[in-house]
Amino acid sequence: MKRILTYGTFDLLHYGHIRLLKRAKELGDYLIVALSTDEFNDIKGKKAYHNYETRKEMLEAIRYVDLVIPEETWEQKLDDVKNYHVDVVVMGSDWAGSDRFEYLNDYCEVVYLDRTEGISTTKIKEELGLQEPVNHVDQIPTPRFENQK
Ligand code: CTP
Repeated sequence: MKRILTYGTFDLLHYGHIRLLKRAKELGDYLIVALSTDEFNDIKGKKAYHNYETRKEMLEAIRYVDLVIPEETWEQKLDDVKNYHVDVVVMGSDWAGSDRFEYLNDYCEVVYLDRTEGISTTKIKEELGLQEPVNHVDQIPTPRFENQK
């Protein structure tokens, strides 16, 4: 059985996520998603709308996903590859060539898949007015949805 592993936050699920997961699953037989915990998102400077348990529940309902595990640190990837007997680590092309993944080539295959153009969780939040546009470098965005919980 060929085992695939991918990482991400998968907050407001969209077709870019689905296409990534579909293509990842097609590389093997068993797809594991290491899902960023809320605490790890804090470390990454990311604020998800849905909490970890909700994001996990949604991912588990996707036919391509066989197992969801927590992503809690940057450093856990090699342990994940060993513990789950992973053959291929898959990431979106935004991570292509990154030191965070390249060293895994010594232990498994690392594949970068093209992102789907024109969609992201950030874009959805911006267009719904839930988040200030993040392309203004001087501006630290204050997500408005935090106040709506
Ligand atoms: N992804 C993709 N195509 C998109 C958006 C995401 O292939 N249009 C992939 C990413 O490359 C990653 C996975 O989906 O491998 C999870 O990405 P994540 O960062 O959770 O989703 P984004 O929508 O990019 O979220 P954000 O805008 O918060 O970064």
